[in-house]
Amino acid sequence: MMNDKTKNATLSFHGKTYELPILSPSVGPDVIDIRKLYGEADVFTFDPGFTSTAACESDITFIDGDKGELLYRGYPIDQLAEKSHYLEVCYLLLYGELPTAEQLEAFEYRITNHTMLHEQMHYFLRGFRRDAHPMATMVGVVGAMSAFYHDSTDINDAAQREVASIRMIAKMPTIAAMAYKYSIGQPFIYPRNELDYASNFLSMCFAVPAEDYVVNPILSRAMDRIFTLHADHEQNASTSTVRLAGSSGANPFACIAAGIACLWGPAHGGANEACLTMLREIGSVEHIPEYISRAKDKNDPFRLMGFGHRVYKNFDPRAKVMKQSADEVLGLLGIENNPTLQVAKELERIALEDDYFVSKKLYPNVDFYSGIILDAMGFPTSMFTPIFALSRTVGWIAQWKEMIGDPTQKIGRPRQLYTGATERDYVDVEQR
Ligand code: SDX
Repeated sequence: MMNDKTKNATLSFHGKTYELPILSPSVGPDVIDIRKLYGEADVFTFDPGFTSTAACESDITFIDGDKGELLYRGYPIDQLAEKSHYLEVCYLLLYGELPTAEQLEAFEYRITNHTMLHEQMHYFLRGFRRDAHPMATMVGVVGAMSAFYHDSTDINDAAQREVASIRMIAKMPTIAAMAYKYSIGQPFIYPRNELDYASNFLSMCFAVPAEDYVVNPILSRAMDRIFTLHADHEQNASTSTVRLAGSSGANPFACIAAGIACLWGPAHGGANEACLTMLREIGSVEHIPEYISRAKDKNDPFRLMGFGHRVYKNFDPRAKVMKQSADEVLGLLGIENNPTLQVAKELERIALEDDYFVSKKLYPNVDFYSGIILDAMGFPTSMFTPIFALSRTVGWIAQWKEMIGDPTQKIGRPRQLYTGATERDYVDVEQR
């Protein structure tokens, strides 16, 4: 962080004036440092949705919402999606630089050899109902990991933090696949070390003991790209949840479980499942106008799922890549005339010509096309958000490590604008 001493913000009220330092980033908006404001002026700032609040300093991911740009450690997401692959992106997010060939080989070896889950956890997972939503299972199983991997829960031990990080990234596909297999009554499929990360996940989801399973390279490439597109995204709701949980010193598995729980909401990671359900409910292009008018109706809670974003006021760059990938994958699978894809493309076209969406700068986000690809790959909608959680684990871990490693880190403890009753005396029930 560069603290430009020549720049201060002046705040005057109640007959006093306060000088607040302005901190300048490497790119993006300046930041007014208000850390001393309450102590000096006895006032809070008020920003319930954190729309104007920088909660931390970070050098991991940068988003320019107006330009529709997303950088992982400075590298544009479209270049990484095309030229890199998920485990290389994981290395970049965790350690800050693209790995050499040797570093990448060693990292991939470590991840591959941590993919199996403690055998006793199979019995824990079998305690859920078969019809449990896979996200409920993932929240529970990941939270329970601290009961099975005690040797990597001491956050003050850098070596244990590293082992926990590798374990989380390695085991999330195994847990997600097990949650899926359990929900459809099929046996768990163990990871296979000869497969790459995305192929291994597809094998654990779709292989059965009764026959050999050959991974379709089109699907594994598309799966890997979806992982990359979802890997990190600055201080979104679930990442902020992980940081806040971590600020109390909670163990890494508990922090990631908190992030999974937050991601599940339909306004956040649950939007991919809600979006495909919406596209299927619309059913055909003839019905689109009705849903567009409902989305614009203030008295109707309906919103276009997969549209809009707190930060992007332009096309989500991930949605652009995802749309290209949807065309490519469905074309290669010979289902380019998929009716849901046609509805999505027409819905996007109509919405982006409608003044309501244009004036509010509402564009398709990462969740608008991802579900169409996942559906074409054979996943039920209930697995869409678990796949988002699997992909985002590296981002949560990288942000958590950055926070834990920050010597100035403090427990997160916001204040409030209190509008409740002022002090009053207790009244006995006979007098009420
Ligand atoms: C993710 O933060 C991240 O980075 C998240 C994420 C990540 O990678 O971690 O990018 C992943 O969560 C993507 C977003 C997925 N959610 C959805 O697709 C759900 C539908 N979208 C909306 O719920 C909404 O757009 C949010 C929650 C995404 C953003 O909400 P904001 O920033 O709080 O904006 P808002 O609700 O204040 O909306 C501004 C205006 C409102 O109208 P007015 O009150 O100003 O008249 O736009 C309207 C909203 O009613 N609006 C929509 C809309 N989204 C916003 N109207 C119709 N349909 C929509 N989808």
